[in-house]
Amino acid sequence: MIVLGCDSFAEAVAHSLGVKSLRFERRTFPDWEQCPRILGEVEDHVVLINRMKSEEFNTNSYLMETLLLTRTLRDMGATKIELVMPYLVYSRQDRVFRHGEPYSSRTVLDLLRDAGATKIITISLHSTKDIDRPDSIPVANLDGFAPIVERIKQLNLKNPIITGPDLGVTKATKLVASALGCDAVVLKKTRDHATGEIKITGDIPTQNKDIVIVDDIISTGWTMSEAIKICKKAHARTISAFAVHGLFTTPTYIQLRRATNNFAVTDTIQTPVSSIPSSSVIINHFRS
Ligand code: R5P
Repeated sequence: MIVLGCDSFAEAVAHSLGVKSLRFERRTFPDWEQCPRILGEVEDHVVLINRMKSEEFNTNSYLMETLLLTRTLRDMGATKIELVMPYLVYSRQDRVFRHGEPYSSRTVLDLLRDAGATKIITISLHSTKDIDRPDSIPVANLDGFAPIVERIKQLNLKNPIITGPDLGVTKATKLVASALGCDAVVLKKTRDHATGEIKITGDIPTQNKDIVIVDDIISTGWTMSEAIKICKKAHARTISAFAVHGLFTTPTYIQLRRATNNFAVTDTIQTPVSSIPSSSVIINHFRS
């Protein structure tokens, strides 16, 4: 097996696994078309580790680049092509919410399969609904909250309580709380699908707690900042906020960092606040 990537993240995985690594060059034409180039010869089994970078490189460019690389790998003779996409784009549109909208998560998995991918390896997929389809490409969905648990442990919080900002993150909130041996509380979020506006309701029935908000994704940052407001009303002693994937469609990490005592995301996406390493999750997957 050979690891193909374009950054230190892929190289670190290859190094830990003791396998060869190969680089691809990322290129964006002035009209935003992608034209990546694989700098060498490929083998039969290739693991393409492609990580997104927030701000400079959007989800569409990233997806297009991954599709082009996959098809190029197939054209160059690879037959087993495993794609590590630490953040799987379009996974939030996991159903047709309103008549006439696309079923994006399914479409993206099918596109990757048709381009030649034989397996997808991802971290904390927003919804696992599609991966059980009989015709879906095999998907390994790895736990991105485990590195967050390790970071929370390092904080040595006195009286922590783990908070999830919406019901969709209930399972992860409870798992994080149970790994830390503390309580969990999940808030309720409603979103207007036309305007994107969200409302979060719920009480954190406690004072003087070290509240730790956990979520799978921060995109606009709206959810996180609303959850922080509720924690402030609950007279938290400290507020920490962590998420697996920091999309940061605008640089809201600046405000979120100011509004909290501790704030970080994992490095599934490269951002200025991706200080929680997640490569161990991928390394363990290939070792098991
Ligand atoms: C949605 O259900 C997710 O778990 C996140 O809460 C959401 O994607 C965050 O989005 P935003 O930062 O735009 O509020």
